[in-house]
Amino acid sequence: MSNSSTIFVANKTQDDCRFLSDVVAGLRQKRRTLPCRYFYDHRGSQLFDQICQLDEYYPTRTELAIMQLCAPEMGEQIGPGAMLIEFGSGSSTKTRLLLDHLIDPIAYVPVDVSREHLYDTAAGLAEMYPQIDVLPVCADFTRDFDLPAAGRRETHDAVYFPGSTIGNFEPPEVTRLLQQIVSLCGTGGGLLIGIDLQKNVDIVTAAYNDSQAVTAQFNLNILHRMNRELGANFNVENFGHVAIYNQALGRIEMYLESLCHQSVNLGEHDFSFAAGERICTEYSHKYTIDGFAAIAERVGLTLRRQWLDDNKYFAVLHFALLD
Ligand code: AVI
Repeated sequence: MSNSSTIFVANKTQDDCRFLSDVVAGLRQKRRTLPCRYFYDHRGSQLFDQICQLDEYYPTRTELAIMQLCAPEMGEQIGPGAMLIEFGSGSSTKTRLLLDHLIDPIAYVPVDVSREHLYDTAAGLAEMYPQIDVLPVCADFTRDFDLPAAGRRETHDAVYFPGSTIGNFEPPEVTRLLQQIVSLCGTGGGLLIGIDLQKNVDIVTAAYNDSQAVTAQFNLNILHRMNRELGANFNVENFGHVAIYNQALGRIEMYLESLCHQSVNLGEHDFSFAAGERICTEYSHKYTIDGFAAIAERVGLTLRRQWLDDNKYFAVLHFALLD
């Protein structure tokens, strides 16, 4: 891995403090919340990998099938001499499909907070693609970060944001994130993004209420994590998994529902939950292509190409940042 000076390593103690303060702030609200980024500790990431293999969970295999079929066109669309910046680094199969079809790519920059996973994936890719500068950046991509300099100068920067992760952000955050992509890439830059599309409610609902209850375990794991890392005393069996589709807002809403009246201690804080009270843990927005393109257009990103599966379940969109 070259250019190690560009690697920003998050401070563990700072991360712990942020986890605690985010959790306390979320649980103090009238409508209680826990930020979904805290799903992904080691166990949570394992459970998410299992979700991606489930029959009911269509997004992963659908996006992969689109990539397998259309990556050559995507490579052409992105154009020669690009620095490819991936938001997240958990999708090496999709990444490889894209890297295989980019024309004379200058650098690949995966950006992720999970340092170990980032460096492992980056090291593997650096070996597989010796002609590309692989420059991992350990950072939270929702916050400003600096791009590393590659050995050769790129003609333009292109962000790759797969996995419909954008769906987990609320509308004002989506706008902020797209604005950040615009300033990161500048004129001539691009964005290739995977979005989950609006579809039959039963299909979406089943994807988040799988028959093996893996999604339930994934949701509940955040309570185990708080017990382990923050010394909380959640009785996990006293909470249930709820995932419902909010048709008006086009999103899955995931909750942890208190199954009885109970109190939980978290350091200096005590929280009491009524029976049936819910903590919101995740939104997963489902878009129409026109709806998402309109949001992107407002920050200066123009939709240039779109690739969909035959069922129109999922779309990979290419936006350009024009003058
Ligand atoms: C990571 N993200 C796109 C997933 C989703 O579908 O919103 C997270 C997930 N939550 C439950 N199942 C999967």
